[in-house]
Amino acid sequence: MRRPVIAGNWKMHMTCAQAREFMGAFLPLVADTPNDRDLVLAPPFTAISTMARLCEDSSVALASQNVHWEREGAFTGEISPSMLQEHDVNYTIVGHSEPRKYFSESDEQINNRALSSQANGFIPIVCVGESDEQRERGEAERVIRRQIEQGLEGLDADQLVVAYEPIWAIGTGKTCEATEANRICGLIRSWVGSPDLVIQYGGSVKPGNIDELMAMSDIDGVLVGGASLKPDSFARIANYQTV
Ligand code: 13P
Repeated sequence: MRRPVIAGNWKMHMTCAQAREFMGAFLPLVADTPNDRDLVLAPPFTAISTMARLCEDSSVALASQNVHWEREGAFTGEISPSMLQEHDVNYTIVGHSEPRKYFSESDEQINNRALSSQANGFIPIVCVGESDEQRERGEAERVIRRQIEQGLEGLDADQLVVAYEPIWAIGTGKTCEATEANRICGLIRSWVGSPDLVIQYGGSVKPGNIDELMAMSDIDGVLVGGASLKPDSFARIANYQTV
């Protein structure tokens, strides 16, 4: 039985004060959320310590937006596994299309981050997805398959989440059709060869489309950007209903 993971990626948003305000409004809205799903928030590094305290005794787990493969060293701007372990982080987000695009992250680096995550007790959420041009050229499946084969090499599928995030659907309001997202998630499952793998969809997820997405057979959760910044919209997503 695959346990759904509903995750909010705050990206470069939220000061500590804003995070406190968010949680003050959000936690009461998820007090009665069914215990059949995991709720996760990925704050920026500066708010991780604040969020760790706010999440104590709540049903919300913490994710880091990055992790390095070394425990320490001369890596300006990076964050190490031991730094995250101090703050009760459970998940890491790696391979997101934004660092792939803006910082030229390679599948090999992403694989190193994911391996480091598992070696240090975190569950990596490994993001994959094609661009608009790649989809137009009919290359979507080939691109995603390469990202899966190289990015997931050597990983334990039982301690892993894969997020299918088509780049053209991120922050654009253009959601991938639920049936198409489900088809790609099914392909990813067959390529990985693990029936129990948890696979999320991400890209313009919002209160208006969450129920349809979560009703799909191969979609086991969502990775949410913009709609995770408002307590009421993320709570509605967390409280999705499939019947
Ligand atoms: P949006 O939900 O804003 O489209 O962002 C998706 C995303 O990139 C989550 O990681």
